[in-house]
Amino acid sequence: MAIKIVGTGSHVPSRILGNHDLEKMVDTTDEWIRTRTGILERRIADASETPSEMALHASRRALEMAGMDAKDLDMVIVATVTGDRIIPSTACILQKKLGAQKAFCFDIQAACTGLLYAIDIANAMIAQGAKYKKALVVGVEKLSSITDWKDRNTCVLFGDGAGAVVLEKRKSSGDIGGILASKLASNGCHADILQVPAGGSEMPMTHEVLDQRLHTIRMEGQEVFKLAVNEMVKACNHVISEVGISVGEIRWLIPHQANIRIIEAVGTRVGIARERVYVNLDKYGNTSAASVGIALDEIVRKGLLQRGDYVLATAFGSGLTWGATLLRW
Ligand code: COA
Repeated sequence: MAIKIVGTGSHVPSRILGNHDLEKMVDTTDEWIRTRTGILERRIADASETPSEMALHASRRALEMAGMDAKDLDMVIVATVTGDRIIPSTACILQKKLGAQKAFCFDIQAACTGLLYAIDIANAMIAQGAKYKKALVVGVEKLSSITDWKDRNTCVLFGDGAGAVVLEKRKSSGDIGGILASKLASNGCHADILQVPAGGSEMPMTHEVLDQRLHTIRMEGQEVFKLAVNEMVKACNHVISEVGISVGEIRWLIPHQANIRIIEAVGTRVGIARERVYVNLDKYGNTSAASVGIALDEIVRKGLLQRGDYVLATAFGSGLTWGATLLRW
């Protein structure tokens, strides 16, 4: 019996940082950001909006859609690179806020691919038998806390938010929905091209680290761009051929929302018509592990998915990590 997504939810902070605001902060223009990235604005969390708080709002919405009580969850997995604290996990902090007493809880770190990794982990754990039945998976980021607001190469790209899904074994054999295939991959040889150098045990925080802003994101944008497109296309083709459907049957491609040029290149090379490629990057920028979850929730709540529709999600991020998941709604 397949495992399916039975609820989705998302949350973004209310504060909007537009491209014109960024013009006052670094040497950039609205025109450059729009044409090079497709981003018009992004959401920025305030001090009280911790990742666990954003995750809490998104999770409550997903649980409500699923008609599920947090008390009944068997597991809570949070994908994030910007958790509330180094320890404990944000999943444990979320557990307390949700009242998910029965669940075991942990974070995973696969950067922007985190939600796809976490969904696959939950899927596999539920599929293995009767031990675990109900999972909450959240991708959440407060990237504004690790953004160098003086670096125009990166600060225009990122935003904050949370996307959540609830997974459960489907209840009847007449239900055709479920997660059909996933392809996850990594290549640590590219670890240095997208990183936060300091704050871990290799380079603990010091005054010098803060002065040099080494606790913020460092990126070789063009290198990431090339690898991202190639690897996401391969991962998408992999899951499509594994399931054995034609590309034309896919209702929505949900790509990680990093750059409109990356999104369009992936859509074109996989062969999915532009109107079936979901984009909300203009409103939120790159929200890392949250991005696919926020997009999926928007699609669901706008009524853009019918029962039985095929949805292909793909993502890439620091590591490098990447992957694709094909599901049926
Ligand atoms: N405003 C104005 N100019 C900017 C700028 C900004 N915000 N950021 C960079 N530039 C400048 C550069 O300094 C460079 O100037 P130069 O030619 O005088 O050196 C010029 O614009 C072109 O820079 P380049 O890096 O070649 O631009 P690009 O077309 O590759 O776009 C990215 C840059 C970052 C938008 C693009 O490479 C990208 O999106 N890469 C993928 C990044 C990503 O997705 N990361 C997250 C992974 S999950």
